[in-house]
Amino acid sequence: MTSAVELKGLVAVVTGGSRGIGRGIAESLADGGAIIAVVDLDSDVAAASASELPGQGHGGFACDVADADQVNSCLAEIEQQLGPVSILVNNAGITRDNLLIRMKDEEFDQVLAVNLKGTFNFTRAAARGMMKRRNGAILNIASVVGLTGNAGQVNYAASKAGVVGLTKSVAKEFASRGVRCNAIAPGFIRTQMTDELSEAQKEPLMKQIPLGTLGEVKQIADVARFLVGPAASYITGQTLAVDGGMVM
Ligand code: NAI
Repeated sequence: MTSAVELKGLVAVVTGGSRGIGRGIAESLADGGAIIAVVDLDSDVAAASASELPGQGHGGFACDVADADQVNSCLAEIEQQLGPVSILVNNAGITRDNLLIRMKDEEFDQVLAVNLKGTFNFTRAAARGMMKRRNGAILNIASVVGLTGNAGQVNYAASKAGVVGLTKSVAKEFASRGVRCNAIAPGFIRTQMTDELSEAQKEPLMKQIPLGTLGEVKQIADVARFLVGPAASYITGQTLAVDGGMVM
């Protein structure tokens, strides 16, 4: 059982935390007592999202996760304003879908830069402090597509498969220093992205989901709160599919 405030006073960074799954995770960790640094591209949007979270002391921070210099200064600013970071959720992600034959270099490079390099950048920036304090939990948001592949998404699937490999490697490197690293592989989750799909597009998707519905952001956020919290203290290096049974 998770107690009401099992994350009390812990500083948690959530990248891409202004909307969608990241926002849901930020709310769930704030509910658990954490102080949230909402990191997103736009400072006003990040600050507004942070101000709407339950509890006190949260902050919004502007940063492009693909830019290592911005990430390093953002992390320093967060620690100066909110305190040492104990929890890092690498959630920021983009898609630039296209068939491989038509895919432009920029479409491939941008997706890898945000989804994979962004995860590396923030992990490297936060890891030193976590290891020194011998305490930390890192959670990366991958995708079922990183486990199965998907036509039209070679860039995205490669980036998310990369996140799974990064998660396992970080778990092995940091385990002896008291830092855990896991990933969630969401299936199809109801967000702005999936709201745009037509019924005709949704129908074949539904057939692949044994539980028969799209997932809700809260169903990812609840698992995120579990994985970064004390109830998961013996779990590291895992990628947990939260997908209604799509990938078994
Ligand atoms: P979204 O597009 O609603 O939100 C993404 C957030 O990340 C936005 O606030 C955006 O401004 C921010 N962001 C984008 N690029 C950034 C950058 N370079 N630096 C900082 N922030 C940046 O996306 P959604 O649907 O909430 O997805 C969140 C994560 O979950 C992503 O990693 C996505 O790949 C993953 N995911 C989503 C699924 C879905 O069904 N929605 C399924 C599987 C994985």
